[in-house]
Amino acid sequence: MHRKVIAPSVLAASLLLVIPASAAGSAAGTPGIGDPYYPASGNGGYDVSHYDLRLKYQPATDLLEGTATLLATARTDLSRFNLDFGLKVSEVRVNGAKAKFATSGVHELEVTPAKPLPKNTQASVVVKYAGKPSEFKVDGWSAWQRTPDGGVAAQEPEAAAWWFPSNDHPLDKATFDVSVSVPDGTQAISNGVLQSQTSRLGWTRYNWRSNKPQATYLATLAVGRFDITTDKTANGLPVLNAYSKDLGDNAGAARASVERTAEIAEWLEGVFGPYPFNALGGYVPNVPSGFALETQTRPFYSPRQFANGANTSVVVHELAHQWYGDSVSVEGWKDIWINEGFARYSQWLWSEKEGEGTAQELAEWTYGVRPAEDPFWQVKPGDPGPDNQFHAAVYDRGAIALQALRNEIGDEAFFRILKGWPTERAHGNAKVSDFVRYAEKASGKPLAALFDTWLYTPGKPAFGPPAAAAA
Ligand code: ARG
Ligand code: ZN
Repeated sequence: MHRKVIAPSVLAASLLLVIPASAAGSAAGTPGIGDPYYPASGNGGYDVSHYDLRLKYQPATDLLEGTATLLATARTDLSRFNLDFGLKVSEVRVNGAKAKFATSGVHELEVTPAKPLPKNTQASVVVKYAGKPSEFKVDGWSAWQRTPDGGVAAQEPEAAAWWFPSNDHPLDKATFDVSVSVPDGTQAISNGVLQSQTSRLGWTRYNWRSNKPQATYLATLAVGRFDITTDKTANGLPVLNAYSKDLGDNAGAARASVERTAEIAEWLEGVFGPYPFNALGGYVPNVPSGFALETQTRPFYSPRQFANGANTSVVVHELAHQWYGDSVSVEGWKDIWINEGFARYSQWLWSEKEGEGTAQELAEWTYGVRPAEDPFWQVKPGDPGPDNQFHAAVYDRGAIALQALRNEIGDEAFFRILKGWPTERAHGNAKVSDFVRYAEKASGKPLAALFDTWLYTPGKPAFGPPAAAAA
């Protein structure tokens, strides 16, 4: 599912090509933000602060059309800049004036404004487009899942290019207003709060607002026929869950799980500190895929997650990401352990609370079922490589690493860190090494060797019961 990584030599060549000789003092932005795992992801030269998407989607034809307005700040004198996008663009305007545009690479949209953008000035970028998201493929693969009654954009590390132009990297987070018009009787689900819903001429428009910084891959759109439940938490946060009307036998288990969102988030607040966003929920569309994703404020769950009955564990996992992944985001995709190691570990804490096995027991079991020769032990959770970004080792070895930390520094320091990190780093980005330094400072213990062993050294490390408990 991963886009082929462009060889550094190819990237270097394309960088050379985009420097215009004529525009002295004004340069083209780069077609990548500089992530070694995904050199074409994101762009350099500007930051986006807000996306306003005004769209219309017709399930019968899979036609998505509309206008994206981006508010951006030039970080350098900019003669040209790139957006990441896969659908067909008909017009681009920058600060009101028509801009030249061209497509290149896998999904690069190159925009040349009529006038260069001076460094540190703000710009509005309007992109008009239309296309069938299911027809846009990257290496034969699509982040857009069409369903019998609509379609869904939810994927990691990228999903945005299938439905809106963006600076597609977690380093450039922004707020979002997403307004989508769909045929009456159909719903459009996105992140944050449903501000309003209006119907006319046979179409219903849903207006969603996500008012805290949000990475582009965490923006989601689901169109289909849903049953919607709404509520408010004890703290007054709006809760909105959506279930496809077409979940078959999984419908009961899906509801029995996702309806516990507020309860689980409240429990997680006790572990991780205040919930970082303005809304809560989850949605279960009728997609064929089996995964789940921590789309901001409103995780995406595939129906297959509920094939064996209620699955609160996956809800715990995706809600834990709201702190670890969504609020505190990776700086580069190699830092994925700061998301997945903690989301997996939170499932073990939930089990501990539910009396279904302590985190230590689950860590020992997970450790024990993998013999030393299992290739699982060759993947480094702290730098797994783009092809192993979502390898089980990032999750399971990554969570054992946290149990090893807990055993080393004790519960008091460990839980202080679990709460302190997302509180101090809220709405930012971080590297694995930032967490290591934070844990050392908070615990007052040198931890480089422990993290080196667990995150960066291939092979099966030693692991057992905590020293005090071993008799
Ligand atoms: N962050 C997601 C999770 O673990 C992983 C999604 C990976 N994508 C996939 N197609 N498996 O909750
Ligand atoms: Zn996860």
